[in-house]
Amino acid sequence: MRVGLLGCGTVGQAVVRLLNDGVGTIERASGHRLEVGPVLVRDPARERPGVDPALITTDAADVLDDPTVAIVIEVMGGIDPTRDYLLRALAAGKSVVTANKQLLSRHGPELLEAAQQGGAELRFEASACAAIPVIKVLRESLLAAEITAITGIVNGTTNYILTEMARRGLAYSDALARAQELGYAEADPTEDVGGGDAAAKMAILSSIAFHTRVHLDDVPHEGIDRLEARDLDLAVRLGFVVKLLGVARLQDGAVSVRVYPALVPVGHRLAAIGGPDNAVLLESRSTREIMLVGPGAGGDETASAVVADVLSILGTHHGSFLHNALADAGRPIAAPGGVRSAFYVRMSVADRPGVLARIASIFAEEDLSIRTVVQSGSGDEATLVLVLHSGTEQRMADALDAVRALDDVRGEPVMLRVLGTGEGGG
Ligand SMILES: NC(=O)c1ccc[n+]([C@@H]2O[C@H](COP(=O)([O-])OP(=O)(O)OC[C@H]3O[C@@H](n4cnc5c(N)ncnc54)[C@H](OP(=O)(O)O)[C@@H]3O)[C@@H](O)[C@H]2O)c1
Repeated sequence: MRVGLLGCGTVGQAVVRLLNDGVGTIERASGHRLEVGPVLVRDPARERPGVDPALITTDAADVLDDPTVAIVIEVMGGIDPTRDYLLRALAAGKSVVTANKQLLSRHGPELLEAAQQGGAELRFEASACAAIPVIKVLRESLLAAEITAITGIVNGTTNYILTEMARRGLAYSDALARAQELGYAEADPTEDVGGGDAAAKMAILSSIAFHTRVHLDDVPHEGIDRLEARDLDLAVRLGFVVKLLGVARLQDGAVSVRVYPALVPVGHRLAAIGGPDNAVLLESRSTREIMLVGPGAGGDETASAVVADVLSILGTHHGSFLHNALADAGRPIAAPGGVRSAFYVRMSVADRPGVLARIASIFAEEDLSIRTVVQSGSGDEATLVLVLHSGTEQRMADALDAVRALDDVRGEPVMLRVLGTGEGGG
């Protein structure tokens, strides 16, 4: 089965990489061997690592009229000629996966209609919040849940800028310059900082959540470009942080979708979302609140959502492969003793000279280095708490055996793992 690509820039190249690297896994799970077919670009001379130059074309017909191409991936962006290309593909019965929020928030209904007419699928998970599977959750997991509200931080650029302004006291223009340096903001940041990008994503999400056609023009939006550092300071003093929010509500049966900078109480879950991350809080009567958090942009992240859509189309149109989700990739199960994490150990010890040195040398022999030591109490009732850097479970178990055997140690030491400081080998 061949997939054709319209566009091969940041996202497109990552899609090709993912499809090539995952070909075995995809075949095991779906029963289909996916092959990357023709790839449309503007400038064929540009270098595209990992992409076979023989597949590159500047003629859209090579993708759209190729009868062997079953799925078209659109990662070129823009409205024209993209809209025409997609209508053509769908009319020809080719399923389409797109990451294009601007196109969908303006012409989504027309494209869905064309998909229905052509007996094809239209998928667009990557168009809102990149790798966070929010559209899948709305479309499938929460289909019957009657969503009443969506509150989202759906633009990573503005969230990064606001985080920098609040944490470092930077002026808006300095925080924007930093975001541009780090690649979080485009050279022309108008869409992001003016709220247009967030509005397009909110139009897409609320259309699905409320089963209502919400056009980009239905979403009034304000950006962060007029915010001043002193408002962020004052907000903090009052117990808030400032976030650019997309807010969609069902109000008296009507749909309201807006984007604006808002004061969020520091204890609110959305207040903790810093840097370029995105988060979407979904409310419904039956499920109460569900929050999805993750990277909202990036080539690899967006490509992961695109490829997931391709797989989902394979599952829908070419035989369900859910039963194959447990297909055996032949990976061994890791031996528990070899797994790494960081540790906390609490033990009762006799407070004698050299106790700490004896215990420390046991852990050192097992390659477990001490990060923090806290001792409290004295005499026979002293408590010693150690926080240790990453090591293997087996070496920790061996160290604890040796510690137990010491005369200085009373009772059973308590051992807990410490999250985020070494699991996975770091
Ligand atoms: N980058 C992200 O993190 C991200 C996240 C979410 C969604 N998206 C969406 O994904 C899409 C692609 O983004 P991107 O960052 O990959 O863009 P990009 O790096 O600018 O790549 C665009 C690709 O499309 C080709 N192209 C553009 N207009 C064309 C035309 N008229 N005819 C033929 N080819 C054309 C370009 O060809 P040349 O290579 O010859 O210039 C390039 O290969 C956009 O809709 C974007 O909004 C991106």
